[in-house]
Amino acid sequence: MRTATTNGLGAVVMALASWQRDGLPVQLHPGDLGWQERFGADVLADSLRIWSRDEEIVAIGLVDGDVIRMALAPSVDQQDDVARVLVRDLEDSSTGVLPVGGATVEARFGQAFRSLLTSSGWQPDEPWTPLRRDLAPAVEDCSLRIETVGPSHAEDRVIVQRAAFPNSTLTVDRWHTMTAGIAYQQARCLVGYDAEGVPVAAVTVWSAGPGKPGLVEPMGVHRDHRGCGHGRSITLAGAAALRDLGSSSALVATPSSNEGAVATYTAAGFGADPDVTDFRRPAFDTGMRVVDRAEAADGSNEGRPPGGLSRPALASGSAINANPQPPMLAGSRRSQPAPTAAAPTPLPNLRPPTAESLPAAPLECADQLWTLDHRTAVSERRT
Ligand SMILES: CC(C)(COP(=O)(O)OP(=O)(O)OC[C@H]1O[C@@H](n2cnc3c(N)ncnc32)[C@H](O)[C@@H]1OP(=O)(O)O)[C@@H](O)C(=O)NCCC(=O)NCCS
Repeated sequence: MRTATTNGLGAVVMALASWQRDGLPVQLHPGDLGWQERFGADVLADSLRIWSRDEEIVAIGLVDGDVIRMALAPSVDQQDDVARVLVRDLEDSSTGVLPVGGATVEARFGQAFRSLLTSSGWQPDEPWTPLRRDLAPAVEDCSLRIETVGPSHAEDRVIVQRAAFPNSTLTVDRWHTMTAGIAYQQARCLVGYDAEGVPVAAVTVWSAGPGKPGLVEPMGVHRDHRGCGHGRSITLAGAAALRDLGSSSALVATPSSNEGAVATYTAAGFGADPDVTDFRRPAFDTGMRVVDRAEAADGSNEGRPPGGLSRPALASGSAINANPQPPMLAGSRRSQPAPTAAAPTPLPNLRPPTAESLPAAPLECADQLWTLDHRTAVSERRT
């Protein structure tokens, strides 16, 4: 099963990579999956929601607490039938895509999908600034000594990360887990050292393949070494690494309120696109039973902060489809099905993924990064 999980993730990462195009809005990227994989392939698989049609993956969601970050295939940009399925599944908590109550969808691409979210009453959420830098021209040198992180520099990578992001969960073990993952095969971690040899800045960059936009996720400067140009330097180094990997451009999106990040990317030659907003759904009661923390505590969820547990556990297979199996409650997901939801309206030819494409996986993420309020957190998971 674990091998099948790995195989399934490869197909998802490949689909996501194939959708990355210059000129399209910055949407979920293989690098986002790669960063999530620091918790392990099983946790990553459990975080994913896949929609397929005629053997082809057409939409992928990465669930992060009460947020789902979506990517759509360019071919379904204007397809109303696909948009209807997606919005229906997002709004029906029995599908296990989003929890009962308030939730947020990052939907940067998909004209029909975005229009339907708006007309269905989803409200604009916090603004984000997408930034991109063309990598056709050479990238200027930076003032730091840059090391590409291998096992011998992993500890420095982690030290900088934790000093840059107060809520960081990165550890050396997780770094090893991440770098053994499928998405990291086209990625680099870099650490920047100052003139005294102190590790002061770090970045991870993710290629989606030659000729496609790469992602910066995340970038940070040690809190004791800010204001010295290191943010610009490590960003330049990341851009140069992506260029070496064959990326056509470097992408990042950061909360517009993170003025330091926007200024730093701008200083490193990135241009800002107009702000974009997520879609926020006000809390409402769908009639499904909310899984409370005590009920859900099956040992594997210890450490997750309140909020993350309100996400209904998924049916075996962690997949969303037009005819979902009854979801399993988190506290008893290995044995007891939840009450069966009303049968959904038949929708066009969408199918669940196969066991090979996304097999069942235990939920084991003990993660202090699952913030209660994603809107205000400067997060290393969503730059
Ligand atoms: C954002 C961050 C990387 C900046 O690092 P830094 O080393 O202080 O940045 P630099 O010294 O290279 O500054 C680059 C530019 O950004 C500007 N800048 C940096 N921090 C700023 C701030 N908080 N507010 C406004 N401008 C800021 C600098 O003035 C400089 O502008 P200039 O080139 O026009 O003079 C650092 O504060 C950090 O690690 N923050 C936490 C993690 C984070 O938010 N990462 C980015 C999203 S993943």
